[in-house]
Amino acid sequence: MRKVKVGVIGAGVISHIYLKNCTGMFRYILDVKAVADLVPELARKRADEFGIPHVYTVDELLADDEIEVVLNLTAPAAHAPLNLRALQAGKHVYTEKPFALTREDADEVLQLAEAKGLRVGCAPDTFLGAGVQTCIKLIDDGWIGTPYAANGTIIMGNASDGMHPNFRNFLKLGGDPVMDMCPYYLTALVAMLGPVRRVTGSAQQLRREITVTNPNSPAYGQTVAVEAPTNVSAVLDFHSGAIAGLQAAKESFGYSPRLEVFGTEGNLIVPDPNFFGGAVYIKFPNGETKEVPHSHPYAEEGRGMGLADMAHAIQSGRQNRASGRLARHIIDISLAIFEASETERHVHLQSTVERPKPLPLGLKHYALDL
Ligand SMILES: NC(=O)c1ccc[n+]([C@@H]2O[C@H](COP(=O)([O-])OP(=O)(O)OC[C@H]3O[C@@H](n4cnc5c(N)ncnc54)[C@H](O)[C@@H]3O)[C@@H](O)[C@H]2O)c1
Repeated sequence: MRKVKVGVIGAGVISHIYLKNCTGMFRYILDVKAVADLVPELARKRADEFGIPHVYTVDELLADDEIEVVLNLTAPAAHAPLNLRALQAGKHVYTEKPFALTREDADEVLQLAEAKGLRVGCAPDTFLGAGVQTCIKLIDDGWIGTPYAANGTIIMGNASDGMHPNFRNFLKLGGDPVMDMCPYYLTALVAMLGPVRRVTGSAQQLRREITVTNPNSPAYGQTVAVEAPTNVSAVLDFHSGAIAGLQAAKESFGYSPRLEVFGTEGNLIVPDPNFFGGAVYIKFPNGETKEVPHSHPYAEEGRGMGLADMAHAIQSGRQNRASGRLARHIIDISLAIFEASETERHVHLQSTVERPKPLPLGLKHYALDL
């Protein structure tokens, strides 16, 4: 199979696992040619770690005609502007979430890609992992009857430990619980239940500033402004008729993820959609709870799978699963949660999307097409 040549922009924390997987399990279809970052030493470090031939500036990377796809792993505010530049340069883009911070930016990216005949992909791709793919199959095969409700919770600490090198990004729109963490839950829900029709919710910001409390952080003792909601509760109505509740906060301590889908004949306990694997359980009406073996491979940390899937799609002409259109719907839902809270009403969504096609059964490990 032909390898698709990739240039990576953004060599921060998450680039490590992407580069490990793109040069490891997905090297049969991806060839990472260059890394770029505003901080050239970070790009150099990653290139040395993973044997990437070139360390470029962003301009150099975009000017390299051999690079077909830009993998955008930069900070949230840079996603849409860089994706537009990459598309202008004639390259497909696969970007980390959030896809954009406004609907207008999201639409501009999709429209430019359409005009140029280029692909757009966006994280999360965790819904392609064994956990959520198994849940999709169980729902589609009727194991829980008609899914009528779902409940998602992601409660985690705020950024006051200051250990992420750019922890300030988590205190702004884009790093907030809705834009940063809900994409995993919303994408899994849309992949299982289909698109969302309307949204209501409440968003609040418990503090105006935080002080970094961890003495190991270079920012220890600094007080930093909080610029986005940090505690959010939403209700989502799906076109299918199902209704879901979603609670997301970056306020308290620890990390408490939970996702359940309730059906007329069983309740499905979905593993944390921030990861690829995890145990799947069904609670049956007789009170029994059974763990269900995974029907699909990819239970390990597989970030980059959405990009590998897009590389298959570029070559075969099929749709890519972690698509820009799916991400656009997720942005629409996320912004609608904030708007519903501000205006105290239901917000009807402008966008819709088809459920991404489930992965086929019987894949050879690491392949994404039969
Ligand atoms: N850290 C995680 O665990 C994690 C997990 C999943 C997804 N993500 C997402 O991945 C993205 C990156 O996260 P991260 O934790 O790696 O952040 P990071 O701050 O560690 O890395 C981002 C890198 O992008 C570079 N950058 C920013 N703007 C740029 C520009 N205009 N041109 C070139 N380089 C630029 C920065 O210098 C930095 O090195 C975010 O959108 C985040 O939501 C992060």
